[in-house]
Amino acid sequence: MKVQGIAAIVTGGGSGLGAATGRALAAAGAKVALLDLNEEAARAVAQETGGLGLACDVADARSAEAAIARAAAAHGPARILVNCAGIVSGARIVGRSGPADLDAFAKVIQVNLIGSFNLMRLVAAGALGLDPLEGGERGVVVSTASVAAYEGQIGQAAYASSKAGIVGLTLPAAREFAPAGIRVCAIAPGLFETPMMQGLPREVQDSLGAAVPFPPRLGRPEEYARLVLAIIDNPMLNGEVIRLDGALRMQAR
Ligand SMILES: NC(=O)c1ccc[n+]([C@@H]2O[C@H](COP(=O)([O-])OP(=O)(O)OC[C@H]3O[C@@H](n4cnc5c(N)ncnc54)[C@H](O)[C@@H]3O)[C@@H](O)[C@H]2O)c1
Repeated sequence: MKVQGIAAIVTGGGSGLGAATGRALAAAGAKVALLDLNEEAARAVAQETGGLGLACDVADARSAEAAIARAAAAHGPARILVNCAGIVSGARIVGRSGPADLDAFAKVIQVNLIGSFNLMRLVAAGALGLDPLEGGERGVVVSTASVAAYEGQIGQAAYASSKAGIVGLTLPAAREFAPAGIRVCAIAPGLFETPMMQGLPREVQDSLGAAVPFPPRLGRPEEYARLVLAIIDNPMLNGEVIRLDGALRMQAR
């Protein structure tokens, strides 16, 4: 799909991978709405790129409906959705103080998995009503999994489960939307240099980066954004989860 003039929604657009994707889509001519729990951050990126920055809790049905309606009022219904909003948490299933907190597990699933599904259902519902473009395409959805979906480390039970859910969601969604020409893919990033990672001490970042076979460094958010644009551009990419990790395979700890 050619992105020039197309309405796009990027969740988690105020930071990291989402902000880089918003910038890349805007530079390619898309009309971009950045949705984030952190409205100020989304607005700051929007101001820089000429898009729209909106408050949205992806885990909440009403909040997402309201944000999508505001984006559609400004740009028309979106044909592109990039799900980048997400949270990390670390806890053993049974830790020193006993079994893990169930609400903490549910929160990660609610934001990462249910949040991605929430936006997918709403944006796809809008795109289904639009005229097909060149090649019969009506829309493209890209969600963000993680290599943790395949190689979750000890302490990543909630995060890895949420990302494995995104992997499992990709094919049935692509199959369901295929007759309407809406493609669905996901990206499973390895280790990327985002505010999430930048919170770690420099030496920890360096040692994580050195564990990546090639290139031996953390990924750059722009490299994630380049893959999003490649997925949108290439009509044969559908129903697939693409690892973007420099051949990294995470160890148990
Ligand atoms: N950075 C990495 O190494 C890495 C690796 C694999 C996967 N990922 C995934 O990539 C995605 C983006 O991560 P990032 O590194 O850019 O993180 P980040 O923390 O820089 O950005 C995440 C953004 O999501 C927003 N957000 C959190 N909860 C939200 C909610 N309920 N509703 C709306 N917005 C919400 C935050 O405010 C933040 O702006 C996440 O899904 C993350 O799990 C990141």
